Formats: sequence, C-alpha cells, structure tokens
Amino acid sequence: MSGLRRYHAPVWDEPLIMEMSAPGRRGNVPPEPIEELDPASVLPAGLLRATRAALPEVAEPDVLRHYLHLSQETMGMIGISLFGTCTMKYNPRAGEQLAQRDGLAELHPDQDDSTLQGLLEVVHRFDLMLRGLSGMDRFVFQAGGGAAAAFTHATVTRAYFAERGELAQRRDVITTQQAHPCNPATAAAAGFNVITLPLESDGYPSLDALKAVVSDRTAALMMNNPDDMGIYNPHVKEWVRTVKDAGGLAFYDHANFNGVMGRLRAAELGFDACMFMLHKTFGVSKGGGGPAVGAYGCTEELAPYLPGPLVEKTDDGYVRRENPSGVGRVREYSGNLNQVVKAYSWLTAMGGDGIKEAADLSVLANNYMETRLLALPGVTKAIPTMTKHRLEMTRFSLEEWSAETGLKATDVQNRMADFGIDAMWLSHEPWIVPEPFTPEAGESWSLEDIDYWIDVLAHVLEEGRTDPEKVRTAPHEQVVAQFDGAGLDRPDGWATTWRAHRRKTGRA
Ligand SMILES: Cc1ncc(COP(=O)(O)O)c(C=O)c1O
Repeated sequence: MSGLRRYHAPVWDEPLIMEMSAPGRRGNVPPEPIEELDPASVLPAGLLRATRAALPEVAEPDVLRHYLHLSQETMGMIGISLFGTCTMKYNPRAGEQLAQRDGLAELHPDQDDSTLQGLLEVVHRFDLMLRGLSGMDRFVFQAGGGAAAAFTHATVTRAYFAERGELAQRRDVITTQQAHPCNPATAAAAGFNVITLPLESDGYPSLDALKAVVSDRTAALMMNNPDDMGIYNPHVKEWVRTVKDAGGLAFYDHANFNGVMGRLRAAELGFDACMFMLHKTFGVSKGGGGPAVGAYGCTEELAPYLPGPLVEKTDDGYVRRENPSGVGRVREYSGNLNQVVKAYSWLTAMGGDGIKEAADLSVLANNYMETRLLALPGVTKAIPTMTKHRLEMTRFSLEEWSAETGLKATDVQNRMADFGIDAMWLSHEPWIVPEPFTPEAGESWSLEDIDYWIDVLAHVLEEGRTDPEKVRTAPHEQVVAQFDGAGLDRPDGWATTWRAHRRKTGRA
C-alpha cells in the first residue's frame, strides 16, 4: 500500500443553526442611537410580515465555527474525481473571481437593460461562440442543466408541430437504450410516446430497428454521441437523415462534447438542435440544477419557439426581448447568467486551438487509463465486442471480480473514498452492463492523479480478495458510513428547510 494516502474526515456532531439559537444572542450590536424606521412607512402593505421572521439568534464566532465545521465535513476531501459522463474538469479560479465581482454578483434581473450592458454583451458573444462550435443559429442559457435543456427541446418540438397542425399525429420520440435517461424522460414529460431502440452486438444502436420504427408519427430523435460508455456512433449522419426524411426533428445531446470539441459540428451532422452543458464542458462547476447551465441551440427554423427572453444586439446596445411565439420560461428570468460569464472566460482563454488540444488530451488520457485498467485482473471493458477506441471515457465492468469476491461495484466506490477518491461514477439507470464503472479523466487531471486513482482501485480490488469484509463495510474514514439511499424515496424522513423539519418531526 506504499504511495497510497489515507484520508480521515473531520466528524462534528453539529447541531442545526436553528438549534444553536438563544434569545437575545447577537452577532453584531450597532452603536446607539440607531434610527427606528417604521417598515409600514416604506414598504407596500403586501410585503409586510404579520409575524417576526424565525431567524436564529447566534453570535458571530459561533456562526463562523458552525459553517467551518459543515464545510470541513462536506469539503474536507476535495479528492480526485474522475466521475465519468460529468467531465469533472478543473474550475479555474479566474472564472470564479469574475463571477463574484460586485458588478456581476449584485445584479438583479429586473434591472433595466441599460444597466446590464456588460453582462448582456457576454451572453451575446458566448451565444456567437457556441453557434461557431455547433453551426446552430441561436442559443439560450435559461435551462438549469443538461436535462432541463433536453426538456427545452421536447417543448420546442411540441410547439413546432402544434403550429404545423401535426402534433396529434407526431407522437413518437425515438431514443436509444444507452442514451442518457433525460432524453426519454423529458420527451415523456412533454407528453410524447418514447420508443427506445436496442444495442446490437457491435455496441451500436440498431439502424435497422430505427428504420423499422420511423414513420409519419415520428416527432424527434434525441440522442447523445459519444454515449455514456464512450462509444461514438459513426452512423450518426444516417440516423439523423432517416428521421428527417420522415419529417421528424433531430436533437443532439452534446453533454459528452469533451472528446470531440472543435472536431465536429452538430449542424453538419444534420441536427436541428443541440445542447451543451456549461457545467461540464466549459469549465463551470458541476451542480445539478444549482450553478448548472444547459445551453440550448437550434436552427433558424426552430428559433421562433425558443423560450424568452432572448438577448439581442441592436444599434442602441444589447436588449432582452420576449419571444411571444416561444414556449415560455423553462426557468426564471434568463437563467444562471453568471455561469455564462465563467464559461465565456474559459472558452476565451482556451481559444479554438486550445479546445481541440483539450479534446485530444481527454481522449489520450482515457486511452491511457483504459490500458492500465484492463491490465487489472477482474476488470473488463463494457461491450467487449466493440473493439474500436472509446473516446473521452470508457465504461468498464467488475462482473468477474464480483463473482470472485461476492462484492459489488458500489463497495469499491465506498472503499476508494477512504483514500481521498471521490465516489466514482458507475452508470446511469437502468444498468445495461453488470457491475459497471465509468471513469473520465478529461484534460485537466495530471498523470500523477490518474495513476494514483488507478493505484487506489488496484489496491481495493486486491483487498476485496484478501479482506472482503473491510471493503463491504467501507467507507471507514468518512463523515457518514454507508448511506441508505432508500431513505430518499421516503419524503417523510427528510426535510430541506427548518420549517419542513419541524413539521415532519411534529414540532411545528
Ligand atoms: C449524456 C448526458 N445527457 C444529459 C445529462 C444531464 O445533465 P444534467 O445533470 O446537467 O441535468 C448528462 C449528465 O450527466 C449526460 O451525461
């Protein structure tokens, strides 16, 4: 085990900040005299509280210590994260600093456009950059993540066919077995029937099966390529053509853009629309629905249906305008625009040649990993009949190791965390590969980090053979031991606000 670093998380029995409250305790006591202002004299009646806000009364050092403890518990590790399909690349501090500047962080979306010119210019310029990378005609940044961008497409599809009077007939959205689940899910949420096509033994979805289901009922194809196993479907043009010849729309889920950045353009493959994830590909931090942004772009033909407001350059500067024929909001206002600033700074710094190099590096890093990982006994490649190189990630299987040890991929995931490795990505549901795991190195992890990650995995696999109990009961050094995910399906057991917590524990 030489060379492996142990990690031990700080564990605090930290109360909730509401539980630390003591009447009259203050963080800050302003000097006398302070003028009392009657809120009713300055605020409209509708904004006045009937009762005092339930805020914790806590001293400033206690507040600092409380949040320090929580951050130690949650951020203590910041380990190596090769979390496949999510492209956990480094989020440059420069981007974070730009987004935190007062001139940006303190903006309010209800401000007049004349006071938002800098931000609107960045949005417009970034829209132009993504047009360049995809060949699409217009982008919006309202969606709160990749799945929300896929949903935007599903609603745009609905509006497009409704306007043509074909919505009652075009009910089918086609996707494939290994597509990200947000594609079928968002199509279903928008009211379409979902047709999911199988994979053939060569690892590609079946073109014959596509031809058999395409018809005048087809509304759209929704696919990601490369898929979440790192497999690039070389027949993609034919897929798109087949659907479009039948009058359907083709949507490219470009979440896995990292390995092909600057190397292909969605429009040239025939797609009508695509999405990028700024929180993966473009250096913005990952956070489902939080700091995430799904950029949705489409051709001129679909642009009338885009959610407003749209940012436009005019002779008098930049303006936001509503889009009366659009699908309406998919999120509040224009979305998380300070993330667009981070992505813009990342892409500007990288430049056209830089992103091509990053794409090549991410593919190289993955193929290096693949060579080392496949040399570990018990590790096999998912869909071994697909012998071509994977792109920026590869899905592997621990099926053989699992049969030998009686342990699971989730046990490996838990034990690796004891050595400072963030939980590795296994697979989206439903699993089509037994005991899967899907690392993705991207371009920003060093060779030493990648080697360390593989060394930890090798150690844990060997430990599973010699001391399976240690692996089965992991993690041993984390804030919480094994977490029963089933609890998430019982809403009575969790609460995301203090008020909900009191209600659910009967203390309201
Ligand atoms: C191919 C693909 N599409 C869509 C998504 C969904 O993106 P998000 O998590 O931002 O909603 C992911 C997420 O990993 C993905 O890998």
